[in-house]
Order: sequence, then C-alpha cells, then structure tokens
Amino acid sequence: MAKLARYKPKSQRTTPESVRTLISSVEIQRRIAEMAKEIRRDFPAEALHLVGVLKGSVFFLTDLARHLTGEISLDFIAVSSYGKRTETSGEVKLTRDLDASIEGKTVVVVEDILDTGMTLQYLLRVFEQRKPRRIRVAVLLDKPERRIAKVRADYVGFTIPNEFVVGYGLDYAERYRNLRDVGVLTLGAKDKSKQK
Ligand code: IMP
Ligand code: MG
Repeated sequence: MAKLARYKPKSQRTTPESVRTLISSVEIQRRIAEMAKEIRRDFPAEALHLVGVLKGSVFFLTDLARHLTGEISLDFIAVSSYGKRTETSGEVKLTRDLDASIEGKTVVVVEDILDTGMTLQYLLRVFEQRKPRRIRVAVLLDKPERRIAKVRADYVGFTIPNEFVVGYGLDYAERYRNLRDVGVLTLGAKDKSKQK
C-alpha cells in the first residue's frame, strides 16, 4: 500500500538537471596550446586577426590568443543564437557587427562549436564580401553528425558525438558558460519536452 501511495506517473517525476564531463579542463588547455602551434606553423610571419563569435567563443578565444606567439589582434561579432532551446532554428541574424574592417587581413574566425554549420556558412559569406587576405576557421568542438550546411573548420579542437554540451563558454539558456570542463547536459525529467 505504502508503495502505491508513493508512485508518481513518469510525467510528474522530477529528476534534477545534470552535466556529465565529456572533456576535462586539462584536456581542453592541452589541445588549445597545440591548436595555437598548428595555426602559427601555417602562418609563421603574419599578423592574425582573431574574430570571436559572441558569446560562446569568448573563453576559447582568450585562451587561444594567449597561446599564439607573434602579432595578433581581436574583434567580435554576434549572431542570433538558440535562445532558450537546445535545437537550432536554422535562422541566423547578425546582432553585433565587427568594430574594424577586415580588408587585407588574415582572419581566423573563432567559434565554440560547429553544429549544423548554418552560423558559420552565414558568417563566411558576410566576411568574404569584405575582401580579407584569407579566412581560416578554428572551432573548439565539431559535431559532424549534425551538419546541414557545407562548411568545414580548418582547426578543430575535438570532434564530439551528437549530444548537447555545455561549459567552457557553451550555454543552455545562458547558464553553464563558466564550467571549466565541457560536459553533456541532461535536462530534468520535467523539462525534457523542451529539449527536442
Ligand atoms: P550551428 O549554426 O548549428 O552550427 O550552431 C552554432 C551555434 O549553436 C554555436 O555557436 C552554439 O552557440 C550553438 N550550439 C550548437 N550546438 C550546441 C551545443 O551542443 N551546446 C550549446 N550550444 C550549441
Ligand atoms: Mg555560438
């Protein structure tokens, strides 16, 4: 009897939201140092203009920048993101433009994650019209299974499976950006309908 009284239908059960570590902060830092070396090896004598895509790339960009030797400069651009949902709408909108011209510069676009590729495809089109000397793309994470647009990154930190991840800049509804590790987010049971 007591057991029956405690029974709750699945829809009413609440399990807390949780994050399972996928890539530790140590692994992230080690890989970023390697990526900086790869980029510098490709462009040993050039000033590099790093363009970070706000806000997710900020942590990655600042660590990458500190590992890059030689001359660099920074700028930021912002595009509309997922909002409170974990699925992309496929719609991309520029919400904050760069401060400076990229004409004649060697641009490295720095993104947190390459998912469907819609954001990057849009940004590359915008940038190419502005006549940079060349454009390269560096992403911390790549989810190739989710790709819709035909784009690729020149430098990839980690290729990951098709899971929603948070931490090290990546958010869910603006939360979790401050985690040092990257982890897979599992929503609480009550929120699950919102995830898909
Ligand atoms: P795309 O346009 O689908 O490639 O998505 C790129 C943007 O979606 C990224 O810059 C992130 O802001 C966001 N995004 C994609 N996948 C994830 C994820 O697993 N966690 C958090 N944000 C994500
Ligand atoms: Mg982003």
